[in-house]
Amino acid sequence: MTRTMTVRIGRDGLPVRESGPWAHGKLYYAGRYFTIFNGGMKKKWPRRGYIDLLAGPGRCAIEGTDEEFDGSPLIALATEPPFERAVFVESDPDLADALQQRTVAAEGRRVIIPADCNAPATVARIRQEIDSGMLAVCFVDLLGFACSIGVGLVCKVGQARRWRSGRAISVPW
Ligand SMILES: C[S@@+](CC[C@H](N)C(=O)[O-])C[C@H]1O[C@@H](n2cnc3c(N)ncnc32)[C@H](O)[C@@H]1O
Repeated sequence: MTRTMTVRIGRDGLPVRESGPWAHGKLYYAGRYFTIFNGGMKKKWPRRGYIDLLAGPGRCAIEGTDEEFDGSPLIALATEPPFERAVFVESDPDLADALQQRTVAAEGRRVIIPADCNAPATVARIRQEIDSGMLAVCFVDLLGFACSIGVGLVCKVGQARRWRSGRAISVPW
């Protein structure tokens, strides 16, 4: 099943991604996972990273309503205890630019890669940003099959370093 993505202008004047009502709940549980991950791992892994391979513009809206809420990048940046470093990959230049603007307050600890997450250069860049002393979460939020992720991409990202217990969660919708 293929879903297409609809974008509209949000209350802050930047693009927001429209989705179904389930998205809010999905992101709530993703955020809970980030909190539990950081809280549970902080003693063993004082340095933790976050990788969002399909980051979006940073804000979402429920289609047919005026309800808006934070997308996964903003949720990850607000997590306490915090991620030391966050890497956001978004192939749409307008959405990457919106995410850049929405995350300016965290510019010292986030990097936005406006590129295809499958590209070897993107994987190499992620490897540079998340060093071997970090434990990282890799979040992959597919849009049905409209986002194409190469088989083994997360493994390639993870192979980058000796992430003995790197975690990946994949949320298909
Ligand atoms: C389902 S949305 C992600 C939503 C995000 N997790 C959030 O909470 O708002 C998927 C995003 O991935 C982007 N995308 C699709 N294919 C991509 C690719 N190959 N590389 C990087 N970004 C991609 C789309 O432009 C879209 O913004």
